[in-house]
Amino acid sequence: MNKPITVTQPCLPPLDEFIPYLQQIWDNKWLTNNGPLHQQLEQELAEYLGVKYISLFSNGTLALISALQALNITGEVITTPFSFVATTHSLWWNKITPVFVDIEPEYLNLDPAKIEAAITPNTTAIMPVHVYGNPCRMNEIQEIADRHGLKVIYDAAHAFGVKKDDVSVLNYGDLSVLSFHATKVFSTIEGGAIICHTEEMKHHIDNLKNFGFRGELVVEEPGINAKLNEVQAAYGLLQLKYIDGFFVKRKAITEHYREMLKDIQGIRFLPDMEGVTHGYSYFPILIDQDQYGKSRDELYDILKENNIFARRYFYPLISNFEPYRELPSAELKNLSIANRVADEVLCLPIYVELEIEEIMKIIAVIKSQAKVNIKT
Ligand SMILES: Cc1ncc(COP(=O)(O)O)c(C=O)c1O
Repeated sequence: MNKPITVTQPCLPPLDEFIPYLQQIWDNKWLTNNGPLHQQLEQELAEYLGVKYISLFSNGTLALISALQALNITGEVITTPFSFVATTHSLWWNKITPVFVDIEPEYLNLDPAKIEAAITPNTTAIMPVHVYGNPCRMNEIQEIADRHGLKVIYDAAHAFGVKKDDVSVLNYGDLSVLSFHATKVFSTIEGGAIICHTEEMKHHIDNLKNFGFRGELVVEEPGINAKLNEVQAAYGLLQLKYIDGFFVKRKAITEHYREMLKDIQGIRFLPDMEGVTHGYSYFPILIDQDQYGKSRDELYDILKENNIFARRYFYPLISNFEPYRELPSAELKNLSIANRVADEVLCLPIYVELEIEEIMKIIAVIKSQAKVNIKT
């Protein structure tokens, strides 16, 4: 059988280029706690992304949890059920009640038109997600937040390098959070970051990820240990040298997919958004069973039989997981679009080293199952 094609695969930098960084770490004998490579990565990332302040974390989940702490968020937070479970878990860890609001059908992000109806006197913030890296309707969300005195924390785990009208989406809201997990476009193996707008907030966040220490002797608040170490910072610095090439390759793969899928009835994909520089972090398709002839799950299984491991991100919906399903906002009738999309969506393999022959194989399997297949 051919080699398995997974939904993603990390693009590791050349090993010989990593060795000098390791030598530097060995010479420095500084392994963690805001080391020189950590500082360099924060600086280079801020420049690359076009943001003011960035604080690195050991993973995106701890960054989300700490972002909520940094803003003293309590009570209820409005969020989307259509995301990776860590989004809602970060609320739970802060003893905040998640209030799920449905998504909009086009780009599958939190629907601003439905937010206001979910606001109560206990609401303190909105936590939207730029799902698959497609920017939320940020101006509308900000207007609602301003009208009701709410904070906005973006889970931007998928939105590395994404810009709207040439401005990083990470500059919107009060805080944005990135994940640098191995599956992400830019990775430090495990890692993450919080993006903020003021030096004061950056210091606060830096302290929060270091047990709450300010200086050597003062602990201001019960912080956590969420520091990124020097070896991972080095990996990130090296990744950054290659990132522009990654984007070019991902865009090309996306365009191949779109071209080859466009005539298959019952398969929809998300087009580029106007004025947006995309990161092409995922390639989701939506399957209309009646028109395509097979359900999403049937296609998922058939791909698997062919050694192609697509993934059903984000199914099940967070609101249907055990810890959250009893919440009033988790009711099906409140989240009809998200529930439908969760049953229709399938993320196809996309990674820098995915070969054109592999894309053709994936397409051939999808076409072979189509009821109406105009172009074969
Ligand atoms: C939307 C979203 N939020 C949060 C996370 C959590 O990030 P991490 O795995 O770095 O903790 C992820 C992915 O892993 C994610 O996809």
